[in-house]
Amino acid sequence: MTQTLNLASIYAPVTSGMESVPGIIRDILKTPNRRIEDVVRYFLSRNGKLLRPALVFLGGGLARSLSAGAPVPAEREETAELHLAAATEIFHAATLIHDDIIDSAPIRRGLPSLHVKWGPQTAVLAGDYFHDRAVVTIFRYGNDRIIPLFLKTAGEICEGEMQELGEKNNINLTEEIHFEILRKKTASLLACALQTGALVWGMDEARAEALGRYGNYFGMAFQITDDRLDFTGRENELGKTLGSDLGEGVYTLPVIRCLASADRDKVVRILHARNHGKRFSMLKTLLQKNGALEYALEKAKGFVSRAKAELEGFPESPFKTSLLGLADYVIRRER
Ligand code: IPE
Ligand code: IPE
Ligand code: MG
Ligand code: MG
Repeated sequence: MTQTLNLASIYAPVTSGMESVPGIIRDILKTPNRRIEDVVRYFLSRNGKLLRPALVFLGGGLARSLSAGAPVPAEREETAELHLAAATEIFHAATLIHDDIIDSAPIRRGLPSLHVKWGPQTAVLAGDYFHDRAVVTIFRYGNDRIIPLFLKTAGEICEGEMQELGEKNNINLTEEIHFEILRKKTASLLACALQTGALVWGMDEARAEALGRYGNYFGMAFQITDDRLDFTGRENELGKTLGSDLGEGVYTLPVIRCLASADRDKVVRILHARNHGKRFSMLKTLLQKNGALEYALEKAKGFVSRAKAELEGFPESPFKTSLLGLADYVIRRER
């Protein structure tokens, strides 16, 4: 198993692109509107993990490492790759801004969420602005394989978020439906990012599809871990408040698992209790005792193995090594 488990070493083969991304993001979001400018500056004052741009570059690197070779000169592709990496992160930011309104989440990346700081009206419009600027950039730099992929993904994220709303407080939610929601709301964009980088360099369809499957499995492991961290993480590390899924009636994999066990009645009583703080600590204790948190970890590990298996057909390269390392990192992460 690879030992490259910190993000800086995983991103090492794509450092130059990653260093350029923040400047391009700022350029894309430039505006003469003072209020939008203030909101953009506030949001960009904290970086996330920048996973999605990293995936764009890693997908691009994988494509270039294939024997067909890259076009020379490759300036057009390099410019497209960089702008699409920035656009993917902006697109992701738009989903976070809206998601925090939907989830009534007070904190994002360690700061008050936009809707808390600026009010929901401004936050809705800011999310739209980010989304629109991302889409304009994707249309400008994407090709006839990338653009439809993004549009499909945008729709899937909406569907996933909407489906999650529809399943709130459902104690009969199945693992199957839950997984479909995770695939749409989270895994789809991670897969899209990786494929986008590959498609800039004209990767063949069969390999691009394998990358799409890697992205989907990776994304499932990523979101299952995120949901486990909502119980077991540390708030300063995560930059988000714990227990938010429970607070919103969003039942994630450990809860679904526990509901399907002999402890079902106990869980239901806890879920329906009034005091959130008490409910959270009781539920966490029960999930630990029941093995449901461990079960979620094992499921995530299963998705990681499936993700890695999709890379078997690719020749060895630093980009492939990073994607293997990223798959391991995703379940060990604490932020
Ligand atoms: C948060 O994504 C939303 C989920 C899909 C869980 P990230 O954890 O990648 O967020 P940042 O960009 O690093 O803040
Ligand atoms: C994030 O889902 C998915 C999208 C932003 C589309 P969550 O609501 O589970 O993620 P966090 O915990 O707010 O980051
Ligand atoms: Mg949320
Ligand atoms: Mg949400």
